[in-house]
Amino acid sequence: MVISVRTARVEDAPTLAAAERETARTPGLLRSLPSEISDAIFADRITALEAPGHKSRYIVAVDRYDAIVAGHALLEPMPLSQSAHIFRLTIVVHPGHTDRGIGRILMNDLIAWARQDLRVEKIELLVRATNERAIHLYRTCGFVEEGRLRRALKRVDDGAYVDDIAMALFTK
Ligand SMILES: CC(C)(COP(=O)(O)OP(=O)(O)OC[C@H]1O[C@@H](n2cnc3c(N)ncnc32)[C@H](O)[C@@H]1OP(=O)(O)O)[C@@H](O)C(=O)NCCC(=O)NCCS
Repeated sequence: MVISVRTARVEDAPTLAAAERETARTPGLLRSLPSEISDAIFADRITALEAPGHKSRYIVAVDRYDAIVAGHALLEPMPLSQSAHIFRLTIVVHPGHTDRGIGRILMNDLIAWARQDLRVEKIELLVRATNERAIHLYRTCGFVEEGRLRRALKRVDDGAYVDDIAMALFTK
């Protein structure tokens, strides 16, 4: 499997949204429920990348053999001026494509981009405390734990609470 990385395009929106909806069917991975994930949210976010002066990096991983989009990841600045040096990371490798190194490829791309972009001083993320695969990936990419948000999620399937772990990487 050979993976290439390119910038997300607006025509990717339905694929990315569908993958997140499918991922969200497994409790304890994403914050959103499937019903809270719409194609339009993805299309709007990707379209915003075309605005002059945009700061985010939104990438997709493509399997070069069959051109299937197998994952996506986003770094976007916090909205307020005094925290705009901090970028928030989101990553989802699509169902059926996990555990093949795609997450690490996406993380390496975003971190390399962040290190050479003067605007990015710190990357932050929140990960469910039960998501051991994701935590392993983030730790091995250099992220450290900054705190724990207790009972951050209350699962709709069984009412169980899940903590979030706040993790961060300083890029400068
Ligand atoms: C988490 C996610 C981004 C990781 O991407 P991926 O392509 O599956 O992961 P990779 O194949 O690049 O790497 C997985 C690593 O985790 C390890 N791993 C797998 N399962 C694990 C587990 N249960 N506990 C600890 N480590 C685990 C693998 O051994 C590998 O480590 P290595 O590279 O040091 O050998 C991806 O699985 C995903 O999107 N999952 C669903 C959505 C999600 O959880 N998103 C993150 C929300 S914060």
